[in-house]
Amino acid sequence: MTSNTDRYTFLPGGGADYPTIVSGDGVFLVADDGRRILDAAGGAIVGNIGWGRTEVAEAAAAVMPMGYVVPLWPTPSRLALRDELVEHWLPDGFNHVFFTSGGSESTDSALRLARAYQLGKGRADRWKVIGRHPSYHGMTTGTMAAASHLARQKGYEPLLLPFPKVPWDDPEQVLKVIEQEDPATIAGFIVEPITGAAGACLTASDEYWQVVTDACREHDILLIADEVMTGYGRTGLKFGHQHFPLVPDVIVGGKGLGGGYVPLGAVAARDEVVDTLRGSGFMYFTFTGNDAACAAGAKVLEIMRREQLVQRAATQGAALGQRLRDEFGEHPAVVDIRGRGMFYGLELRCNRDAVVQAAMDRDMWVYPAGSGPVADAVMVAPPFIITDSEIDLLVTTLRASLDAVYS
Ligand SMILES: Cc1ncc(COP(=O)(O)O)c(C=O)c1O
Repeated sequence: MTSNTDRYTFLPGGGADYPTIVSGDGVFLVADDGRRILDAAGGAIVGNIGWGRTEVAEAAAAVMPMGYVVPLWPTPSRLALRDELVEHWLPDGFNHVFFTSGGSESTDSALRLARAYQLGKGRADRWKVIGRHPSYHGMTTGTMAAASHLARQKGYEPLLLPFPKVPWDDPEQVLKVIEQEDPATIAGFIVEPITGAAGACLTASDEYWQVVTDACREHDILLIADEVMTGYGRTGLKFGHQHFPLVPDVIVGGKGLGGGYVPLGAVAARDEVVDTLRGSGFMYFTFTGNDAACAAGAKVLEIMRREQLVQRAATQGAALGQRLRDEFGEHPAVVDIRGRGMFYGLELRCNRDAVVQAAMDRDMWVYPAGSGPVADAVMVAPPFIITDSEIDLLVTTLRASLDAVYS
């Protein structure tokens, strides 16, 4: 069972040094040697309903025997997920969804959508998509070019598309860059409402978001909210942008949409944006709307509503945030603690990989983060079902890990 873990993947650092995981149970991952690992980051900030939910597996299994159906055709699972999203999750005016197999496919499709939107309006000169520094939008060549995550881009320069960047927090620079680049060349503007892996929960001011929203409206630049990390309840509201005066035209989701059980992403756009696609060559992926993924995703969202987990992310998340601030506010290794809901970043004065390893030595997983101005950070973003005593365990284990690294 455990043999050959060194050959599991060609990812640098993957494989043999990690436990082999055989099952999940609530906020814990269970290894083949019986270790129970507290999953304090829901994997890659994916797990919201927690692990071991057999009803999600049953929903997927029920439709799998049908096999494959081309994405242009409806199926009951595709329609059910679309209805769930439109009726219960997306803001008014977002009645159309394009399914994908994850975050990168979704953000990349949103870049393509920005271009298609401008072409549909007869503006062939508009191709640039403005991104922010720091940010992360995925590992396709398009999303790498729109993002600014220096560690993940290292060695791939020059990025294949010369997309402009603005700082994550400076509204004046946003206006300056739009003018310098010439609005007549700009198709879209992609933002993480709260910066995830690259910034460990960096949060811009309301003024910043108002300026971004107004500038996009003024110049008819498609405003894309990358909610791959922040969407589907993670921040205590359905979507992260809802905390701010940030009004997107396109909402991109992945990660929590499938609860971590299936590869699933979705791009939702305002009806008037979708209208411009008629007659365009906008193409699907082979696994767009994969039936088992849609069935599982619809079940995850139903569970979230049934158990009121978005509200729980807000209330239990506030309790987690308070505990983190109480415990680490004065800790010499911690520069800053930020975030909301079940989504926190601790910016560090010490090496993040050492902290992640120290936590793993104590049977807990936290997510390494940071790029550019945020050199070292870890993220704490557990499943929304985490209990008070599990929060205690999380905080105590993180304390021991930080103390072990920074003494
Ligand atoms: C904000 C954001 N966008 C896009 C992605 C890419 O998603 P995926 O890794 O599922 O392709 C991520 C992944 O971490 C993300 O955090």
